Amino acid sequence: MDKIRIRGGRPLHGEIAISGAKNAALPLMAASLLSDETLTLSNLPHLVDITTLANLLVQHGAEIRMNGAAGNGGHTGRVLELRARDIVSTRAPYDLVRKMRASVLVLGPLVARAGRAEVSLPGGCAIGTRPVDLHIKGLNLLGAEVELREGYIHARAPRGLVGAEVVFPAVSVGATENLMMAATLARGETRLVNAAREPEVTDLAHCLVKMGARIKGIGTDTLTIHGVERLHGAEHGVIPDRIEAGTYAMAAAITGGEVELLGARLEHMRAVAELLGEAGVSVRESERGIHVTRTGGPVRGVDVMTEPFPGFPTDLQAQFMALMALADGAAMITETIFENRFMHVPELCRMGANINVHGASAMVRGRPALTGAEVMATDLRASVSLVVAGLAARGETIINRVYHLDRGYEGLEAKLAACGADIERIQ
Ligand code: EPZ
Repeated sequence: MDKIRIRGGRPLHGEIAISGAKNAALPLMAASLLSDETLTLSNLPHLVDITTLANLLVQHGAEIRMNGAAGNGGHTGRVLELRARDIVSTRAPYDLVRKMRASVLVLGPLVARAGRAEVSLPGGCAIGTRPVDLHIKGLNLLGAEVELREGYIHARAPRGLVGAEVVFPAVSVGATENLMMAATLARGETRLVNAAREPEVTDLAHCLVKMGARIKGIGTDTLTIHGVERLHGAEHGVIPDRIEAGTYAMAAAITGGEVELLGARLEHMRAVAELLGEAGVSVRESERGIHVTRTGGPVRGVDVMTEPFPGFPTDLQAQFMALMALADGAAMITETIFENRFMHVPELCRMGANINVHGASAMVRGRPALTGAEVMATDLRASVSLVVAGLAARGETIINRVYHLDRGYEGLEAKLAACGADIERIQ
């Protein structure tokens, strides 16, 4: 199995082109099931998760054509044409859903378009129990009959969905996306209250509007959707990946380097930029994206709590922890979104970090240096935090289970190596 070897201690210098956002691309692809016309998505990242969802969509009846890699806002990215002329199967089987939880995003579109869906329950995952009750309750409110049987969500709305008010008791990105998609084809008006405001949700809303959906309140926590008879084809470019950009910002900071993140958007990353600023890292808008610099002494320890957007994202918590492991001072990092997202802590400690976890908080006491070690992690962001740590650690770090990284970081080694990192993939 592939591994990544890093010899740490080289400051990153250069430019990194930020890919299209995985977590925007996945719901956008699922949205293709809402129309019998072609949805053309550009700036798609080349990632295993994208292929997994493409395979699921094909078995629902979508025809998918890859149209080369074309530019979008100066970036290369794949262009996919997705056309679900007919829904030939409403079943999302366990063997595909278990590979990727985001597969549950086909639930809303299938029920809205075909009046039924049988989607495998995703089950647990490395970062917590992650139920889908909010997706199910929401669909129920839109008039679907939903039953859980034999590990599957069976949803039926033979006479179509009907608009309703859905008040989310907690913010959920996936439930907001699923219900927003479902509501576009429901009869009447749907209000989603306490909806997620993540840029990926907003990107999906913009694409749905291009497809003919009527959505108000985009970018706020209340989305009002007037159902329409049908949606049509559209073309849409996926937003840049703010989590990828944030990860490379932390990598530049931890190595005392200077990078320009091409295409990255500061308006998607204000909380991250502010926090890095407090830690002594300069993050500013540049003509082509975001410019990140840390020169001089170590970063300062600063506390952070993960929150729904516009707060600091849970998907950057592990990478920030790696950075704080080398800070001058201590940092209290509190995870409020997922109950079990500290899997990287023992591995960072094996590299010499001083971190103690108490419930949902991790107390990181900065050390002057980390040392390379053989490490592995159980999810994407935990894995990449070990890469971030390895870039600054003394000696050699070997990261196992590279397939996690391939789910979410396009060309990771190539992008870092081009900025001077000593990193390679080995067998
Ligand atoms: C999305 O997951 C992202 N995935 C995650 O990124 C990200 O960490 C998360 O949002 C939070 O920002 C994709 O977009 C594909 P949620 P999602 O529903 O939609 C609980 C990565 O590394 N909850 O906002 O599944 C849930 O357990 C991934 O790229 C319920 O209780 O997240 C969690 O504690 C990992 N019931 C919280 O809400 C539900 O029905 C937020 O989850 C749904 C969620």
